[in-house]
Amino acid sequence: MDKLVITGGARLSGEVAISGAKNAALPILCASLLSTEPLTLTNVPGLNDIGTMLKLLAQMGVKIEREGNRVTLDASGLNNPLAPYELVKTMRASILVLGPLLARCSEAKVSLPGGCAIGARPVDQHIKGLLAMGAEVGVEHGYVVAKTTAGNGKLKGAHLFTDMVTVTGTENLMMAACLADGETIIENAAREPEVVDLAQCLVSMGAQISGAGTDVIRIRGVERLHGATHRIMPDRIETGTFLCAAAATGGEIRLTGTSTGYLDAVVDKLMDAGCEIVGEKTPGRESIHIIAPARLKAVSIRTAPYPAFPTDMQAQFMAINAVADGTAIIRETIFENRFMHAVELQRLGADIQIDGNTAVMKGVEKLQGATVMATDLRASASLVIAGLVAEGETHIERIYHLDRGYDHIEAKLTALGAAIRREKA
Ligand code: EPZ
Repeated sequence: MDKLVITGGARLSGEVAISGAKNAALPILCASLLSTEPLTLTNVPGLNDIGTMLKLLAQMGVKIEREGNRVTLDASGLNNPLAPYELVKTMRASILVLGPLLARCSEAKVSLPGGCAIGARPVDQHIKGLLAMGAEVGVEHGYVVAKTTAGNGKLKGAHLFTDMVTVTGTENLMMAACLADGETIIENAAREPEVVDLAQCLVSMGAQISGAGTDVIRIRGVERLHGATHRIMPDRIETGTFLCAAAATGGEIRLTGTSTGYLDAVVDKLMDAGCEIVGEKTPGRESIHIIAPARLKAVSIRTAPYPAFPTDMQAQFMAINAVADGTAIIRETIFENRFMHAVELQRLGADIQIDGNTAVMKGVEKLQGATVMATDLRASASLVIAGLVAEGETHIERIYHLDRGYDHIEAKLTALGAAIRREKA
């Protein structure tokens, strides 16, 4: 297993290109299952999770052509509505094939994702919605086994309410509804920009969707969806992660191919911490310019569904608060176990008291490099940020977590002046 070795102290400077959004690309790859015509995607990020999803779709019979960041998927030969445990256990987002398979094939067998480091992450809301749309859904030997019951093999439109805001739950049900009989309304829908990007792709394929980005989404089922070409939106969490890396190191960088548009809550907090952040827009080019102070002021955060502060940026803010001036309170309200990076940051000298879903932090002058272990994707990112500012060398083990969601992160950081290298552990 690879590890990263970082020597702290460099102030980041220069320019970094932000990749396409992992959490938009994953559902949009699954949307290809809804059509017998090719779906071409551009700005697809080079991530391990993307590779896993493409493998999962290919074993279902989807023909895939990949050229750099451009992927064409042809699901006309779809012949195996099965998502096996071996693939699903490595990537929970595989559950996103459930809705499209039911809509297209009238049946699906998808391994239950199982929990992951940050929580149990059940899929009961996905199942509740599909049941309401007339599917028969059971759980057998660790698999969700579903089929439609109507004579025409279709799901039927329904008025759905999710018990809590669920991003992939909203996405699964929105995709299932595209080919259903009649209208589906999803109340308490997730408003994340990735949901909007998926809706825009589906509409370009001929779906009839309104309200994406609000908490009420209406989908009118159609007979079929046609092929399309869609550009994946920029990754707002990669954007936020590089903003935090620049902020923690007192750096000044430009992030290209992205905008502050989907990150208001994060940009707001970084400005409270003392950073200057400006969104720049010239024809065909969007970027963000950040100038950080020598030392940040501590900022408290509370995670919540979009447009509030994103849970996927909580770990990165724990890292910047570790060396900020003052006390910060971090509240995690989305996942029940998303503080595993705290004990690793404590190994680097961070002063963090955890009490349930609340962390109280006192910024220290300096962290000391040490060997730490990545536990999940965003926890890994927080350890990279901490390593960039710690004195001496920090060794981060199990960075396969990082490779799932960041596209060549050490190359991008090296180009910004960081002393970081990958080693075979
Ligand atoms: C998506 O996960 C993202 N993943 C996560 O990003 C992100 O942290 C999360 O949304 C919240 O924004 C993808 O989009 C692929 P949820 P998802 O359903 O959809 C509970 C990353 O780092 N819940 O919005 O799985 C659930 O347990 C990843 O890129 C149920 O109880 O999250 C959680 O407490 C990590 N039953 C809360 O709702 C359900 O049926 C929100 O989960 C569904 C969810």
